[in-house]
Amino acid sequence: MSDPTVLVAADAGVATLTINRPSALNALNSTVLVELDRAVSALAADPSLRAVVVTGAGGKAFVAGADIVEMSAYGPQAARRFASLGHRVLAALEALPVPVIAAVNGFCLGGGCELALSCDLIYASDTARFGQPEVNLGLMPGFGGTQRLARRVGAARAAELIYTARQVKADEAVRIGLVLDVFPLADLLGRVHEMAAGIAAKGPAAVRASKLAIARGLDAPLAVGNALEIETFANLFDTADAREGMQAFVEKRPAHFRNA
Ligand code: CAA
Repeated sequence: MSDPTVLVAADAGVATLTINRPSALNALNSTVLVELDRAVSALAADPSLRAVVVTGAGGKAFVAGADIVEMSAYGPQAARRFASLGHRVLAALEALPVPVIAAVNGFCLGGGCELALSCDLIYASDTARFGQPEVNLGLMPGFGGTQRLARRVGAARAAELIYTARQVKADEAVRIGLVLDVFPLADLLGRVHEMAAGIAAKGPAAVRASKLAIARGLDAPLAVGNALEIETFANLFDTADAREGMQAFVEKRPAHFRNA
């Protein structure tokens, strides 16, 4: 049997998804997308999940794009199916109820950049290179790049990156707001896992409610987003964890959250 193309590891509520096709710089073919879909569906159903880390195997690439060899045999129908599959899987990853963090450890191009953009937070190694190089192939982004990159870095910067296909180093990626922070390659995964463990120690319902309010609010007029915040804020007062968190503050002791 061939190796799984998506590795799943879990530790204390933090799941790590590793795209595992290092011989093709982790390029996303249909098999990877189907395995990623399966992994994300399983995580979505796990009430003990607190955070997810996404990274790439092999030390050279996060993901170097959609699989060009597979796409080279496509006509429009197959391309529509492939783009629809990619969109569905990345939307499911984005919609996970907990924070999803990309640990970008090398090339992050095309569909790889689109995968990172489906994550709430993106951190990168000093070796990372970002870009949407599809026009080099006579193509355009097909897994959400025209939409999510424009929302993350602004329409003009996204347009420039897509029209020119130029690669962006990690420090520029921070400057344009694509990446939050850069770490030496050897430290990246450890730093991201530290961050994920920190999030996992907070009130689980509070973190999930925060993600929901941010995500839904971004697609809504401000007044609607603000009304959603009032509702989600108020609902947390029904949880034992909010009582514990506030009581612990008053009693000057650490809070012990039980996801209740
Ligand atoms: N699809 C398929 N195979 C890929 C790939 C991809 N996107 N990217 C790299 N590979 C393969 C290479 O073909 C090579 O395989 P072989 O050893 O069998 O020849 C292997 O990975 C190693 O790659 P290179 O030898 O090219 O490594 P390099 O260090 O010289 O270059 C690179 C690295 C600059 C990332 C280069 O591989 C590259 O330009 N890759 C393609 C990047 C790209 O165009 N991505 C966008 C794809 S289109 C897309 O993603 C559409 C969409 O939005 C849905």
